Amino acid sequence: MSAQTSCNTLPSHIAIIMDGNGRWAKARGLSRLEGHRSGVKAALDIVRYAGELGIPYLTLYAFSSENWNRPHEEVTGLMHLLHFYLRQECKELIANGVSLRTIGDISKLPHSVRDALADVCEKTKNGTRIRVTVALSYGSRDEIVRATRKIAQLALLGKLNPEQIDEALFQNYLDTQCLPDPDLFIRTGGEKRLSNFLLYQVSYAELYLSETAWPDFSRADLDSALAEFARRQRRFGRTSEQVVG
Ligand code: FPP
Repeated sequence: MSAQTSCNTLPSHIAIIMDGNGRWAKARGLSRLEGHRSGVKAALDIVRYAGELGIPYLTLYAFSSENWNRPHEEVTGLMHLLHFYLRQECKELIANGVSLRTIGDISKLPHSVRDALADVCEKTKNGTRIRVTVALSYGSRDEIVRATRKIAQLALLGKLNPEQIDEALFQNYLDTQCLPDPDLFIRTGGEKRLSNFLLYQVSYAELYLSETAWPDFSRADLDSALAEFARRQRRFGRTSEQVVG
């Protein structure tokens, strides 16, 4: 049975840390890059499936601000993969009603990748089925610092009174300003940490930690995560009685 028929409550926004590509590859005697290549294929299928299920927002952690410290060969390989799949999948993304966006400091990406991203974001901008946000050169602390700097500059110029700064205003300066907060936060690959991903935004997200390495994360795994999500009671700081009543 698909998740759509087994649960009533679908999350509006799913955020995923796609972890385990390297270990998946190592266990098969493959290069880390082959693991990432299989990871991209898994990501493309989850994008398709999430769209079919009617999930409006999906955010994928593809490259963190700390991933720049990986071996040069792996970073270059990841950039090539990204460039290749952006070019290859653009038509498919449009056909599937995807609108692609990024978060993170993409000014650090190679020019060729930035151009390919700008092209795909422009060509998919009318996609109405699912907004897919790819976090690239993204780190939550970096995002929060960048937002704070913008707000401080406005205050310095006298365009903003510090008294006006509240959560709603602050969120408008985050990279995720056009996105609702994630409802469901999935991490694959067996680790149990947030790794600097959407720290501000996941305050009330339900966490789902999967042992499955990302390249093996299938539609059935997403169904399991959604079924678990539907069983959770979200209280947002209230009591059970308040929520039920
Ligand atoms: C974590 O696996 C995964 C990443 C650092 C990148 C995730 C990227 C993809 C799924 C591919 C799409 C992204 C690009 C930029 C083409 P890991 O390498 O940390 O795995 P390990 O923990 O098993 O070593």
